[in-house]
Amino acid sequence: MESVWVKGSEIRKRDPLPGDMEAPVVVIGAGIAGILTAYYLKKEGVRAVVLEADRIGSGQTKNTTAKITSQHNLIYCRLIRTFGSRMAAHYAEANEAAIGQYERLIREKGIDCGFVRCPAYLYSRTGTALLEQEAAAAESLGIRASFETDCELPFPVAGVTMFARQARFHPLKFLAEMAEEVEVYEQSKVLKVDDRKVETDRGTVTAKHVVFASHYPFINVPGYYFARMHQERSYVTALEGAGSLEGMYLGTDPGGLSFRSCGDLLLLGGGSHRTGVNPADRTGEGCKYGMPRNRSQEMYPGCREVYRWSAQDCLTLDGVPYIGRFSGRKPYWYVATGFGKWGMTSSMVSAHILTALITGRECQEADIFSPNRHFTAQAAKELLVHGAYTVKGLSKHLLPSGKGRIIPNCPHMGCRLEWNPEEESYDCPCHGSRFDKEGRLIDGPAQTDCKKRKENEN
Ligand code: FES
Repeated sequence: MESVWVKGSEIRKRDPLPGDMEAPVVVIGAGIAGILTAYYLKKEGVRAVVLEADRIGSGQTKNTTAKITSQHNLIYCRLIRTFGSRMAAHYAEANEAAIGQYERLIREKGIDCGFVRCPAYLYSRTGTALLEQEAAAAESLGIRASFETDCELPFPVAGVTMFARQARFHPLKFLAEMAEEVEVYEQSKVLKVDDRKVETDRGTVTAKHVVFASHYPFINVPGYYFARMHQERSYVTALEGAGSLEGMYLGTDPGGLSFRSCGDLLLLGGGSHRTGVNPADRTGEGCKYGMPRNRSQEMYPGCREVYRWSAQDCLTLDGVPYIGRFSGRKPYWYVATGFGKWGMTSSMVSAHILTALITGRECQEADIFSPNRHFTAQAAKELLVHGAYTVKGLSKHLLPSGKGRIIPNCPHMGCRLEWNPEEESYDCPCHGSRFDKEGRLIDGPAQTDCKKRKENEN
């Protein structure tokens, strides 16, 4: 089923790349991050060519819940502890600024995309200590945040952390208008990046600067992003007859849900799990595809599901996106990835940081998001956890590979794929690539379809 954003959204089709060309900047990926980066570069007088393998907004932009927030779950206490108050304040300022930058753009261009300011809440049904600490930490960094005990959810809560003046909108209506401002070529799949040459199936763009804004950077070396990120899936259901909420909500307890209104519908999200973990092996009551749907009937008896969809998110080792120079070895390559579940504000933050780096402007926020930052002890532990998944996936690859038509080894680095019966896909537990039942690529970092067996081959 498609997301609520897809129906009724018309994004004008663009031609494929007409052949070889040169440009100051080439951006790979026409989601919100790529389009906004190209837009702000253009405003600074820099031409950026955007390449898209499929259609504008056809990746994760259409699967978001489209909350524009500086509230990113319980993060500010951790950021202060890990990076110190000054750097944590840069994270807060960049994300608060992103909300205002959306508002200004939408007003300035008269974009009809349902942008509305509203509060965002974290809730817990079990305890208040973490919420109180988070409110105090956020407030100390300049965010209008407070701890409260009451809210409009249809069940009792222990407390909530409220962030004032956050926002929500319709992401594809916004993207459709912004894409009109930039030079985009669709159906132009990047096959290879050779230094400053970006080769597609339609021609090559040679550029001074190359921006990877394609959700997951598909280049393994340099950068090694496959070792420092993992992907998660989560699920959203759009409900009719569930009433509406003024605020947006996210539960901080295991199995906590996400709520936001969208016109007459209520969007209910949850059920996160690492991509590629078989449903039978998932732990925690929240880790099921049908979880938000099942919970909806308890909370809103008689409501009706009218849309449902799933999202795929990249998570970094320390919870902060990787935005900036791709690697010390390629100072003219840039990346925007690892947005966690906060793609809207992170896309705007990316556009501003990457524009500043490419045009040589000072940008104090760049340090905390730098992909080349130092990692903490906690991040090192995460690295080991993800490494263990890769070792397990690769060792399974050595076993005989079954008798189906698809050879279930991931074309990215060879891990054994897991069949996901809930979504009828082959999912990779190592770095999160996904393939449909015919072995066709759905999500990277893999770039090609699965191999198929030859006739008569077991
Ligand atoms: Fe890396 Fe499958 S996504 S091995």
